[in-house]
Amino acid sequence: MHLENLYLVNFKNYELANIDFSKYINALVGENGSGKTNLLDAIHFLSISKSAFNSVDNQCIRHNESFYSIIGRFSIREKQSTVSNSLTHGKRKKISIDKNPIEKAADLIGMFPVVLIAPNDHALITEGGETRRKFFDVMISQFNKSYLLNLIDYNHALKQRNKLLKQFAEHGNIDHDLLEPYDKILISLGKDISEIRCAFCDVFLPKIKKHYSYLSNAKESIDLIYQSHFQKDDFQESYKASFQKDLVLQRTNTGIHRDDYVFKMDGFQIKKFGSQGQQKSFLIALKLAQFDIVREEKGFKPILLMDDIFDKLDDFRIQKLTEMIEHHEFGQVFITDARPERSSHFLEKLNIEWRAITIDNGKLAAGE
Ligand SMILES: Nc1ncnc2c1ncn2[C@@H]1O[C@H](COP(=O)(O)OP(=O)(O)OP(=O)(O)O)[C@@H](O)[C@H]1O
Ligand SMILES: [Mg+2]
Repeated sequence: MHLENLYLVNFKNYELANIDFSKYINALVGENGSGKTNLLDAIHFLSISKSAFNSVDNQCIRHNESFYSIIGRFSIREKQSTVSNSLTHGKRKKISIDKNPIEKAADLIGMFPVVLIAPNDHALITEGGETRRKFFDVMISQFNKSYLLNLIDYNHALKQRNKLLKQFAEHGNIDHDLLEPYDKILISLGKDISEIRCAFCDVFLPKIKKHYSYLSNAKESIDLIYQSHFQKDDFQESYKASFQKDLVLQRTNTGIHRDDYVFKMDGFQIKKFGSQGQQKSFLIALKLAQFDIVREEKGFKPILLMDDIFDKLDDFRIQKLTEMIEHHEFGQVFITDARPERSSHFLEKLNIEWRAITIDNGKLAAGE
């Protein structure tokens, strides 16, 4: 799969841009703040329906403008599809594929998959479980629609149950009949979701291990441990047992919304004991494993977006990654770099078509 053309109006610092891309490597170069990451984010919007960096859609509308519009033309096995994502202040975001409106983002996810490697990936190691759950959920959802739909239903039931717990606290009465339908959903969907997460980790871990040892030449042994309340045989008991706590805290304390994924190296948590270099290698291995899994599940290569990758890596790892590019392990790749001479240095050595796209303050350089 590749993105042939991108058309932006009033998206972040782009007033108007119309860009044709190489099927292979696109190096987005320009000074700090010129709009390189914004362009990757526009592609992320087309794929996942939202920003990878900013959870407030309105802030992606260019300052002092009333709307943004992102239009991308993808090609999958010679078939073209045009995806549009636009937002006007005060209105709902509109998404369409070939001019057919998409009602729910869930209907888009997985159709035009991307894998993003970005500096803020570090949050996957340092932040709380929610960040990791989101990463795994988006990844699994790209190829497992029923997982995504179950997750949406689960989150809806969770919200309703928490609302009831708050009402009970406010009114000083408890109505078990009102809670029961939500308990049923949280237990049955929770079990399904937990089983899929667990099975996914079994498939995913060997892929991370493979990339980690290739990228870093390291001997450390990597581990990924899925932690879930559902792994205990007496889950229903512990769900019921936490009811008093739920009442006091006015939220549901047991279930897959509290799951976590622990990353380990030689038996110790990477978060606490991994060196900076080990953490960087681990994160790239994680994203390359994501690339492999999406490719296997979809039957075509997702687009790879690499934001400031050269800043993150030492020469050995850059060499390893460029070898992967050269061996056609990836399909279409977008790489941002604030230092054009550095990316040209690595890319010129490759026997593969690449294109430099120079960006200056939200505008493409003449001739682009
Ligand atoms: N809604 C918006 N309207 C106008 N400009 C915006 C908006 N949102 C972000 N920007 C501008 O976009 C620019 C940042 O763009 P971006 O993050 O793509 O830069 P970059 O080229 O990746 O830089 P770096 O090399 O530092 O990573 C900033 O100047 C910021 O002010
Ligand atoms: Mg950037």
